[in-house]
Amino acid sequence: MTGLGKIAVLGAGNIGGTLAQRIAEADLAAEVVLVDIVDGLPQGKALDIQESAPILGFSTKVNGSTDLAALAGADLVIETAGLARKPGMSRSDLLAKNASILEGHARAVREKAPDAVVLVVTNPVDVMTHWFHAVTGFPRKRVFGESGTLDTARFRSFVAAELGVAPRDVTGFVLGTHGDTMVPVLSLSSVSGVPLARLLSPERLARIVERTQKGGGEIVELLKSGSAYFAPSASQLELARAIARNERRLLPVSAVLDGEMNEKGVAIGVPAVIGRGGLERIVEVDLAPAERAAFAASVAAVRADLEILAHLPSSHAGT
Ligand code: LAC
Repeated sequence: MTGLGKIAVLGAGNIGGTLAQRIAEADLAAEVVLVDIVDGLPQGKALDIQESAPILGFSTKVNGSTDLAALAGADLVIETAGLARKPGMSRSDLLAKNASILEGHARAVREKAPDAVVLVVTNPVDVMTHWFHAVTGFPRKRVFGESGTLDTARFRSFVAAELGVAPRDVTGFVLGTHGDTMVPVLSLSSVSGVPLARLLSPERLARIVERTQKGGGEIVELLKSGSAYFAPSASQLELARAIARNERRLLPVSAVLDGEMNEKGVAIGVPAVIGRGGLERIVEVDLAPAERAAFAASVAAVRADLEILAHLPSSHAGT
């Protein structure tokens, strides 16, 4: 399977820039274009990445632009634009500002890249995924959000460190919202197939669950200005690669539910098969009773934010 023709990355901040670099280095597309409103930023980062090609050996052409016309013909659009959290802020605090930025982008994607698969990264990501889906009117298989691959990577890292095993041997699923009520699903997590409950005490597992739920905030507090971007961009790369190479990976993504997990009209993290067409199908999993309750609380948290979105002055939510 050859890669894609064009991947557009909206937003040339820390996440967008690092992601464009990762995509180019992985040779996922003939072209990656970085788009941002700050003149010089996307062009400068694109040129800088491009100049690494002779050493790193990739063929991807890297371009930067301040014009949304650069979205034309993109096969995959990754939305990273918007404000990031500062210490003390929740992801929901970003809602109004980021919804208005994404509304303009969603309209531009609908017009200039009507067949694209869209991966939404901007926070609060579950709400922004719902919003992008509503504004574009694209089928839900072509608009979904990234968060679970990041939260799961954090969870896997913490488990690996606790047990002294290779991070890649730890598998797991963090489902639900990308916020404090996210649900690390212990019943679906293992080390090379060995259930975690056989390897770690409930107390140690509880500490890992809590650290995972606060994982983004831990980095925000450390950095003092700005939010995480190395693990986030690696997590987005995992999804971009699954799409570009039609890998049909089973990964957690924020998907607009239509009756799955007994929920409708809300985007939230669930396991899904990701391939060239985007989200090929959602895989419903049987959760343990406590996990089911935690998932329901997670859905309620997203619905509370959707209420706020629906009442924003400029909002067309629900249309
Ligand atoms: C995080 C931000 C990117 O979890 O949401 O680090």
